[in-house]
Amino acid sequence: MAVSLLPLVLSGVLAWYVGYILNQITNRNPKRPPIVFHWIPFFGSAISYGIDPYVFFHECRQKYGDVFSFVCMGRKMTAYLGVKGNDFLFNGKLADLSAEEAYSHLTTPVFGKDVVYDVPNHVLMEHKKFIKSGLGFPQFRSYVPLILNEMNAFLNTSPEFGPGKEGVADLLKTMPVMTIFTASRTLQGAEVREGFDAGFADLYHDLDQGFSPINFVFPWLPLPRNRRRDRAHNIMQQTYLNIIKQRRSSPENPGSDMIWTLMNSKYRDGRLLKEHEIAGIMIALLMAGQHTSAATIMWVLTLLGSKPEVIEMLYEEQKRVLGEGENFHVDFDKYKDLPLLNYVIRETLRLHPPIHSIMRKVKRDLPVPDSKMVIPAGSHLLAAPGYSATHEDFFSRAKEFCPERWGERPDDEENAEQIDYGYGLVSKGGSSPYLPFGAGRHRCIGEQFAFMHLTTIICKFVHDYSWTTVGKVPDVDYSSMVALPLAPVKIAWKRRD
Ligand code: HEM
Repeated sequence: MAVSLLPLVLSGVLAWYVGYILNQITNRNPKRPPIVFHWIPFFGSAISYGIDPYVFFHECRQKYGDVFSFVCMGRKMTAYLGVKGNDFLFNGKLADLSAEEAYSHLTTPVFGKDVVYDVPNHVLMEHKKFIKSGLGFPQFRSYVPLILNEMNAFLNTSPEFGPGKEGVADLLKTMPVMTIFTASRTLQGAEVREGFDAGFADLYHDLDQGFSPINFVFPWLPLPRNRRRDRAHNIMQQTYLNIIKQRRSSPENPGSDMIWTLMNSKYRDGRLLKEHEIAGIMIALLMAGQHTSAATIMWVLTLLGSKPEVIEMLYEEQKRVLGEGENFHVDFDKYKDLPLLNYVIRETLRLHPPIHSIMRKVKRDLPVPDSKMVIPAGSHLLAAPGYSATHEDFFSRAKEFCPERWGERPDDEENAEQIDYGYGLVSKGGSSPYLPFGAGRHRCIGEQFAFMHLTTIICKFVHDYSWTTVGKVPDVDYSSMVALPLAPVKIAWKRRD
């Protein structure tokens, strides 16, 4: 019986498959965005999108225009490219678009309950206000020497750098570690930094595995890596809870770090943050800043190493502003007088924004302006500001690393309309093709911290070393959650006399 049914089942499947393919070719509904043709149901365009999202977007744009849908691991995504697409997503109404429903399944197991995308949006906005109050100039001033101390200790003992006069360093191996040491010592406080010397790194790694692309689709699968993620989350949460208890019981103010800021923040109704909320926010900040900053510093160093003359221009700028020899002093208040360094960071983020796809779940049918198309409720909307930032329509020599272009270009964001979603004024960024930190209610609040962190790290590198990139500037590895340089990522360095 089973054997005689087999041909029937196979022909049923075949008929369904032929219908699936024909439907894509013939059934073009003008009220829906065109669907990118794909041979394999469920997987859809996952492979081309996953290998290089920008090439995929570019090819689709040529065929279908700025708005098109594609299937990716069972989800229907609608990409809206260009400046209009950026504005459509970042400034969409809360009732229309939800970041919470797009990301929560991935982030909540890592960050924990009652924070970030596991709370109603107005609570996230209050949390962002608390975090922002701990990211001010007084804190940044105190962080600069802490970062330099950590860098000295790391670079002098690292086998890739060490005390020698020259060498070759693997940035993929060294920069994530240096980033986590410096970011944790500043934002997270001395106790968390010490934890990284005593086993935190493994826990961090296990937690980080929660952000594997497979978890975008199947976050609750009982995989060993997800069990390790949950265990790591519990231990890290407990570590923060212990730190908070310890601090509450000791009358001494341990400084100006974020845990302290959150312990003293109150909701509009006067309630203090609960301890598990503080722990969750701290874990979220650790993860939000780590990959983005580590990726950026690797790109900065390799791009600069491909243009050593820019390193020497930075050295000259630094000598003028921060002093030379005995008089060299890295001072946060002088960062505004280092324009070339600022342009280098901006240009790096233009070419390699760590986050290539910004997503929202569509809650109500959304008409696309100036067209007949409607993006259906239940699908996902995607914007890619990195696409407009590297397109000739907006930047000449768009694929080249030209930091000096920022000296001539007006700051779109500074001139843009501002809006307050509950955590201070932010740019709507509606007409800007360059939005590496997003815009609107979900805009990044770590930008100034990231600039302080990156500026300090680059100042120290430029002061201590000259370097060149080994081989060509690496291609991009899109297989992790942020756009990393593809191995090998090495620089040949020489210590300055
Ligand atoms: C949001 C980029 C560093 C904390 C975002 C978003 C982007 C971004 C594009 C918007 C996401 C969306 O709209 O879905 C970056 C880049 C960084 C960086 C390029 C460094 C080069 C940091 C750091 C922190 C941080 C250091 C923490 C100190 C956050 C937070 C949000 C955010 C809390 C808000 C999430 C939301 O409201 O949904 N970031 N980020 N980021 N980032 Fe960053």
